[in-house]
Amino acid sequence: MMPLTPKLALASLLVSLPLTLSACGDKCPTPDQTCNCSAAAKAGESAAPVSPDGKSTVAEDGTITLPAPDKVGGIPLMKAISDRKSSRAYRPQALSDQMISDLVWVSAGINRPEKGGITIPTAMGSKEIDVYVMTDKGVFFYKSDSHQLIPVEKGDHRSIAGKQEFAAQAPVTLFFVADHARMKPKDEEARKSFGAMTAAYASENVYLYCASKGLATVVRAAIDKDALSALLKLRPEQKLLLAQSVGYAPEE
Ligand SMILES: Cc1cc2nc3c(=O)[nH]c(=O)nc-3n(C[C@H](O)[C@H](O)[C@H](O)COP(=O)(O)O)c2cc1C
Repeated sequence: MMPLTPKLALASLLVSLPLTLSACGDKCPTPDQTCNCSAAAKAGESAAPVSPDGKSTVAEDGTITLPAPDKVGGIPLMKAISDRKSSRAYRPQALSDQMISDLVWVSAGINRPEKGGITIPTAMGSKEIDVYVMTDKGVFFYKSDSHQLIPVEKGDHRSIAGKQEFAAQAPVTLFFVADHARMKPKDEEARKSFGAMTAAYASENVYLYCASKGLATVVRAAIDKDALSALLKLRPEQKLLLAQSVGYAPEE
């Protein structure tokens, strides 16, 4: 594939964005740019440009187009399961663009574009999980159909990433949110438990990815949900369930 210059990458981003957004249409419960509309995903509109060479590109409005996930790397699955563990200490070292791309994709990225299928199972195919990413640069919403990070809030907010001290040290925190507006089961209790189960699948995929890449991670329920929901600008139907710290373990 011909490598994209920054100019070309931006031009193709601008061309593809209206396509992605218009796909939300009136079927979408939240017709705005921060929606992983299942209609768009079903149509297989992973139309957005993919950054070349494992690097992200950043548009003027701060939207980050991630490199394509690396779907062939990693250690054998049984070794990753064998190595899976929680770790609560991190080096300040940032993660690469490629790792961030891979992390959001394993969490809830599209793995079967022709059907809009994603990397985790969801009850009745609701695909209700939204993934948010916190780094020292800001907080972003993962828009899976275009594999982009949409800025939600600028700045380093890691001091409220969790109730435990180590949480503020991790270079990346993922937040798993269930959007009840997208859930097909009608019963509220069922929505709550299905959402929590789905978040756990996302988390386990992250655990296995981290085991495979030698990264440190821990899933966390000890979070200030009110403060974080406000920071992430969640709607009332979007329920914040889990946070997951990711980074490099300290050198021994
Ligand atoms: C739903 C859930 C919530 C958790 N919340 C936290 C948390 O808030 N803080 C933390 O340090 N670990 C948290 N953990 C991680 C567990 O403490 C950890 O998985 C457990 O101690 C077993 O260790 P292991 O993952 O290394 O096997 C959570 C795990 C789960 C499944």
